[in-house]
This record gives sequence, C-alpha cells and structure tokens, in this order.
Amino acid sequence: MITLGIESSCDDTSIALVKDGTQILSSLVSSQIEIHKRFGGVVPEVASRKHLEAILPLLNEALEAAKIKLEDIDQIAATSGPGLLGPLLVGLTTAKALAWYLNKPLVPVNHIEAHLTAAFLTAGQLPEYPFIGLIVSGGHSNLVYATGPRNFETLAQTLDDAPGELYDKTARHLGLGYPGGPVIQKAGEGGDPHKYQLPVPMKGKGYVFSFSGLKTAVMRIVEKEGDKLDMAGLCASLQYSVAEAFAEKVCMAFKDRKSNILAIAGGVSANKVLRERMSEFADKHGIRILLPTLHLCTDNAAMVAAHGYLTADLHKENTLEVNALANWAMGE
Ligand code: KG4
Ligand code: ZN
Repeated sequence: MITLGIESSCDDTSIALVKDGTQILSSLVSSQIEIHKRFGGVVPEVASRKHLEAILPLLNEALEAAKIKLEDIDQIAATSGPGLLGPLLVGLTTAKALAWYLNKPLVPVNHIEAHLTAAFLTAGQLPEYPFIGLIVSGGHSNLVYATGPRNFETLAQTLDDAPGELYDKTARHLGLGYPGGPVIQKAGEGGDPHKYQLPVPMKGKGYVFSFSGLKTAVMRIVEKEGDKLDMAGLCASLQYSVAEAFAEKVCMAFKDRKSNILAIAGGVSANKVLRERMSEFADKHGIRILLPTLHLCTDNAAMVAAHGYLTADLHKENTLEVNALANWAMGE
C-alpha cells in the first residue's frame, strides 16, 4: 500500500511516498527558511506563493526518487490543519486534484497527530498504544495520553508561547538569527547550564506549560550583564530550563497514566539538550523512548503519509469536501 503524503501547513513544502505506513520510499522538503529569515518569522502570503511554486516540481522529484509512477499511488494523505490557511490550501487542493484524477482516496491529516506518528516511523513501526506523547514545536506544546490512532487525552498545553516560539523570539532579541532553536542550541554548546538561574516554568503548578516568561527573564539578564554576558552560558541555561519544565510534566504523566512508552516529536524535539534530558529520564524509569530522526522532527510529509495510512479508515465523510482548518484539536 503506497501512500503519497503532502505537507504545507507552515513554511515547508514537503512530499513523501511511504509504503505500508512504515517504510519511507522518499521524503523531500523544500524549505522557505531563507526567504522568511529576513522577516524573523513566517509571512503567510509569501509562504502560500512559495508552496505553489514548489509543490508540483517536488512531487515529480519525490516520485523519481522513490522510483514510483503516479498511477502506483494507492491513497493520498494531506495535512488539512491546523496551520496557516493559505499554505494549507495549496497542499490540500493539490491532494484533492490528484485524488480526483487518480480516483484514489484522500485522507485529511491532523498535523499535530502526524508529528507523533513520526516518532514511531523512525523506528520503522506504527504507533503502539497506550503511550505518552509530547509534541514540542513552533506552534505547539502538547502533552497527551494516546490510546488509539485518533484517541488522545490532552494532559497539558501551553498558556502562551510554544517552546519553538520562545526560541525564535528570544534568538531574534539576542540577534542570533532564525529559526531560533538551532541557533540557540549552537550558541549554547559548551556553555554552563547553571551559569544563570532561570525559572523552570510552572514547576509544581500541575499540568500546564508557559514559556513567555522565560523570554522576559532572558532579556533581564542581558540588560543586567551588559558586556559581561556569557552567551553560551545563557543559551545553555535557557535550554536547561525548558528541558526541566518538560521533564517535570512528563514524569507526572507516567505516574498518573498507565504506559511505558514515551514518544517525543515536533521541531523542538531536534533539541539536543531536550533529547538527552528525556533519554536520561526514560532510562532511569525503564521507559521505551521514541525520538524522531532530525529530518522527521521538523515538518515533513513522511509523517503525514504514515498518519494517513494509520487513520484512513476513520474518515466516513466525503473527504473531497473537507476544508482546510486553521484550528483543529488532536482527535477532533
Ligand atoms: O515542527 P516544526 O518544524 O514546525 C511547527 O509545526 O511549528 O517546528 C519548528 C520549530 C521552530 O520554532 C524551531 O526554532 C524549532 O522548531 N527547532 C528547534 C531545533 N530545531 C528546530 N528548537 C530547538 N532546538 C533545535 N535543534
Ligand atoms: Zn509541525
């Protein structure tokens, strides 16, 4: 069973071909980072146009790389939300046109759910239930208890910024560049994570995340330290605080719910400090941890194809009539 995956919810155009939901035949990403860099963030209108330019050439490349003909595709999975409406529409409309032309099913995919499936795809398998899932990206910060392909109990969400947003905004203020996560990780290499005492957000406050306060705390240190600022120490301390915040809530989740599997996904799961902290926690408690390869952490269509394969039978509606959704909660 060959699934074509299409992803265009933000600033990455991606096309993938995945066999049986577990085997990546090809997965290509056309990134717009260089274009949005100069604005310090994604400009939706620009993103839509770039998706439109990239999507068909990328489809041809992905088919070639997988040595597959268009007619060999069995179903088409496309991200239909949540995300930026214009960008989403480019991918979803392309998917609808292909589904109609090839007379093959279209599976609308929830982008956040797909991120979690990416963790399992890395291990070459479909998700095993129940598991505790942590999605950390530029737009999301969700801790969930997953009991089925589209069954999620949300345990914690952020009150304000997502962790990727914190990194992107902070990096901009620090003049480090965009996207923030990778540049902060690089700047923090070799730095002392205890150099600056940053708060661990929402520690002891139950199932809730909040990351906007950390940005302010970082800026206060910058002002106070002036020329004495230890940038490596600051970036290391910031990543340490973020990792501790996630570790505390993940630990709570394993106490409150029955599971011995932890799946982490989303752009920020590429973060080395977070990966190490979570692996340490999992090792200590005999929990199996699934971390996506770096390519599968950030937005990609392989996760969309895999999640489409997993959820294809759950859609009873005429999917050709499905609309792009800016907001779409997991499991809804
Ligand atoms: O999942 P993703 O590609 O897009 C969204 O759905 O949001 O995540 C993008 C986010 C950006 O905010 C970026 O700064 C962050 O992931 N990111 C990282 C790293 N690589 C990407 N954050 C921390 N450390 C990284 N190595
Ligand atoms: Zn994403």
